[in-house]
Amino acid sequence: MSPRTTHTLRLAGAGLAIGAALAMAGCRGDRSDNPPRQFFPDMDDQPRWKPQSESQFYADNRTMRQPVPGTIPFGATYVLAEADWAEPFNRKRDEFLAEDYELHDGTDDTGAFITTIPVRVDLDLMALGKKKFDIYCATCHGYNGEGANAAQDQTRGSMVGRRWTIPIPTFHDPLYLPGGARGQDGYIFTVARKGVNTMPAYGHALDTRDAWAVVAYVRALQTSHLGALTDVPESERASLGAPPPKPAAPEAPPEGQP
Ligand code: HEC
Repeated sequence: MSPRTTHTLRLAGAGLAIGAALAMAGCRGDRSDNPPRQFFPDMDDQPRWKPQSESQFYADNRTMRQPVPGTIPFGATYVLAEADWAEPFNRKRDEFLAEDYELHDGTDDTGAFITTIPVRVDLDLMALGKKKFDIYCATCHGYNGEGANAAQDQTRGSMVGRRWTIPIPTFHDPLYLPGGARGQDGYIFTVARKGVNTMPAYGHALDTRDAWAVVAYVRALQTSHLGALTDVPESERASLGAPPPKPAAPEAPPEGQP
């Protein structure tokens, strides 16, 4: 290529660049009544209605649709109206889902704790209750629900329970038996799901059925704790075997260890 041709090409290149820059500058900042140029229209243009506008499509001519009957809102949307149509918006999601208070809340219409488990108690439920209890409750209350009291008795209860800052109640206290002041099925259900004072809530891990199953299992633990050998049908007694020996007191943990 001769130097002359190179020079011409350079000039042409510079001219093009300046032209492009000017063309682009022209696109910026100018007001125009013309529709914008669409290089990639994609989904720029599509039929739509603005909120609160009129629609010829729906029979009621409203653009905005009503929720399908029975819709359960997420979170809470409150509207300040007493009308029937506003009613669904003025209730929280929880309230919709917990239409059956006995089942979901453990309380009756008056807010009192119910004293009967509102689901069918069978062996399946019991097995579920044992499983969930052993996972979520035994850590503190011990596998047989005897609680833990580090100050008085190092043999009782579970490791976590023994080190809890306050004694963990035993389920065999008459307070928690049916008829006891805190012995309602609904109360134990509520404590399991929502916690109490220093006890954490386990509602994230136990759904309604799980929690009722745990209540049923707590009842089984209480019944077996209070029971005598004579409560067991004679044919079954042999299968129980000898009572387990009392566990030896473990050595006290070294000072300063968690
Ligand atoms: C992390 C330890 C821990 C776990 C796990 C735990 N609890 Fe508790 N629980 C406690 C403590 C501590 C208390 C005493 C709360 C208080 O009164 O401060 C307690 C108290 C209770 C009470 C008596 C409440 C009262 O008002 O007297 C019940 C019933 C109970 N727990 C049931 C359960 C059930 C059911 C589970 C399993 C879902 C469970 N707990 C799991 C620590 C625990």
